[in-house]
Amino acid sequence: MNIQIINGPNLNLLGVREKSIYGDSSFESYLETLKSRYPQLNIAYYQSNVEGEIINKLHEIGFSFDGVVMNAGAYTHTSVAIADAIAAVKTPVVEVHISNVYKREEFRHHSMLAANCKGVIAGFGMDSYRLAIESLIAQ
Ligand code: DQA
Repeated sequence: MNIQIINGPNLNLLGVREKSIYGDSSFESYLETLKSRYPQLNIAYYQSNVEGEIINKLHEIGFSFDGVVMNAGAYTHTSVAIADAIAAVKTPVVEVHISNVYKREEFRHHSMLAANCKGVIAGFGMDSYRLAIESLIAQ
């Protein structure tokens, strides 16, 4: 099973950025934990701060991979273009958030992407990514 994780803007700074919200682990070290937990999966990782690059990655893998775990960061709340890309590809996308966006500012309560995703997982810290992978395995 081929799973693509896509992280959007500012998520390259996990472990450095707003640790009280996002924790102190870098994504790279968490990714190693995920890979050793699921040796049967091919887990690919891509991060970009650029909206168009996230869309290009979705186009590239969105007709061949089995699932996408997508944390689009702040683009979640703004991007019609990423929402359209999710609708355009065949691969199911699970939206994830590290923080519980519903406990935070009101502008984080709305997702432009969620309606085009298989489902949404938010608020479980880095474990949100694992829960999304579990949902893709179970599909
Ligand atoms: C986030 C929540 C977003 O509102 C925020 O802009 C992020 C991270 C999360 O993982 O909790 O960059 O997607």
